[in-house]
Amino acid sequence: MKQVLVLDCTMRDGSRTRQLLDAFLHGVNSETAEVTVLPLASMDLKPLVNEWFDSRQVLLEEDDRTNPRFDLAHQFADADLIVAAAPYWDYSFPALFKIYIENISVDGITFGSGEDGLSGLCKAEKFVYLTTRGGFAKSKSYDDQAYSYLDSIRSMLGYGEVIPVAAIGMDVQGFDAESELNRACQEAEALARELTKTS
Ligand SMILES: Cc1cc2nc3c(=O)[nH]c(=O)nc-3n(C[C@H](O)[C@H](O)[C@H](O)COP(=O)(O)O)c2cc1C
Repeated sequence: MKQVLVLDCTMRDGSRTRQLLDAFLHGVNSETAEVTVLPLASMDLKPLVNEWFDSRQVLLEEDDRTNPRFDLAHQFADADLIVAAAPYWDYSFPALFKIYIENISVDGITFGSGEDGLSGLCKAEKFVYLTTRGGFAKSKSYDDQAYSYLDSIRSMLGYGEVIPVAAIGMDVQGFDAESELNRACQEAEALARELTKTS
């Protein structure tokens, strides 16, 4: 079974990004894929600061990488497919998503370091990034700092291609946001079918 790790960083009831994620999940083939959803907003994730930073350093110095503190990092490293759903906030994703990344970026688990620099240890061949945007910013453009970040850190974490699916113009008056969201939902569902089809 393909292990699909879903990072649900949707932030409110009635979230359109959540609808996009639901469409993706609808397309997942349950005969080939096992899905684990992490609801980031309910997980009490902490940024690496003060005691939370210091205690992590101690564990790494003691080479204690089986400590439960690193369970999220092992889970990320072992996933075959990663799916992140996050609304487009301030040209990027919500800070909560970066806090999750801080917690899974662990030397010796999700990446290694040696004389040649950093090398990724994550198995996932694809990383699907689902979002909805208030305005008309296009995926992979300069204004899409979420994609550029996710694409950039894959050289450290080692997962494969980042595939964005976005619905745009959600908050533009007079724009048919409903049709655009439906179009993106169909794209997400078809992508899930393709990524989890029987080989
Ligand atoms: C805190 C915040 C920041 C936002 N920043 C942007 C932005 O920089 N550009 C933009 O086009 N829309 C922005 N939006 C609008 C959202 O991208 C848009 O409403 C999106 O569909 C929200 O997703 P949701 O329905 O899943 O919550 C922002 C909304 C919020 C609440």
